[in-house]
Amino acid sequence: MAEPQTHQTPQPLLQARDLCVEFPLPRRRTLKAVNGVSFDVYPGETFGVIGESGSGKTTLGRALVSLIRPTSGQLLQDGVDPGTLSRAAMREHRRDFQIMFQDPNAALNPRVRIVDSVMEPLEVAGHRDARANREAALQAMARVGLPAAFADRYPHQLSGGQKQRVIIARALTLKPRLIVCDEVVAALDVSIRGEVLNLFADLQREFGLTYVFITHDLSVVSHISDRIAVMYLGCLMELGPAEALAERPLHPYTQALLSAEPVALPRSMRHERPIELRGEIPSPVDPPSGCPFRTRCPQATDTCAASRPAWQERRPGHWVACHHAQA
Ligand SMILES: Nc1ncnc2c1ncn2[C@@H]1O[C@H](COP(=O)(O)OP(=O)(O)O)[C@@H](O)[C@H]1O
Ligand SMILES: [Mg+2]
Repeated sequence: MAEPQTHQTPQPLLQARDLCVEFPLPRRRTLKAVNGVSFDVYPGETFGVIGESGSGKTTLGRALVSLIRPTSGQLLQDGVDPGTLSRAAMREHRRDFQIMFQDPNAALNPRVRIVDSVMEPLEVAGHRDARANREAALQAMARVGLPAAFADRYPHQLSGGQKQRVIIARALTLKPRLIVCDEVVAALDVSIRGEVLNLFADLQREFGLTYVFITHDLSVVSHISDRIAVMYLGCLMELGPAEALAERPLHPYTQALLSAEPVALPRSMRHERPIELRGEIPSPVDPPSGCPFRTRCPQATDTCAASRPAWQERRPGHWVACHHAQA
């Protein structure tokens, strides 16, 4: 697998090389949720990941923060292979890499006061000073716009947006360097999405955070990402600078996604008619031979069934896996 060569930047915070995550199924079958992805995430950037439901985004996100072990391939976090760390070293190391999920209701225990939820990661990380933990939690809450009056409330007394702020505060207490944000605004009313996205942007500037921003919603990711990766059936189809990817997508799948969601695009790029994708996403238990997208691709030929297209840098910083992509 080729290395990206165009970035003259500091060491990537994440480096994935041919990363695979498989789940064993009965009768010796396996489900390839993440199927050989390679990319780097650089300090301070927002790395968007888009893909339809079931394409492996959450599994990838969990692997990136070491919540699941890759089945094969390599993952380096700040140059370190987490698989080689002792338990004690891992406990320190993993604070830098946090993940936040979509549903604040599922993430918050209804019987636990807000401040106790926010300080929980500190306790889990071994900080025993309850007063210091509470103080740190209150500070994190203040930073996300939750005054101390919220500290002793319970989740049901908060709005959806406020609950999402609690989740953000909780991730901040550990002072992470990178946060995987998995569909973090999907459950929010459209009216407060912008507010929460702005908060993410503010926190990024203030703390130099790096985000991997996972979503099925193109309009969300295109507004906040520096680069965007497009995932399909566990594979990366395309990866490039957000603007280039939106304005001149190289992969037929990206083109179809964009044409189906014209509001995410500049007017000049909007298609008259959406490109129709035939059929359903195939099962990751039994993916198509060759290119995973070929069964739905308007441009598919015999070559696409015969071999999986190489992951190639076709324009500077713009990668694609397609036999027919024109650079
Ligand atoms: N723990 C698991 N065991 C078995 N299969 C799983 C598990 N987690 C996810 N999958 C499967 O992996 C595939 C990718 O899932 P997921 O990563 O949740 O995708 P996305 O977040 O893009 O919707 C799906 O087919 C899903 O059913
Ligand atoms: Mg998901």
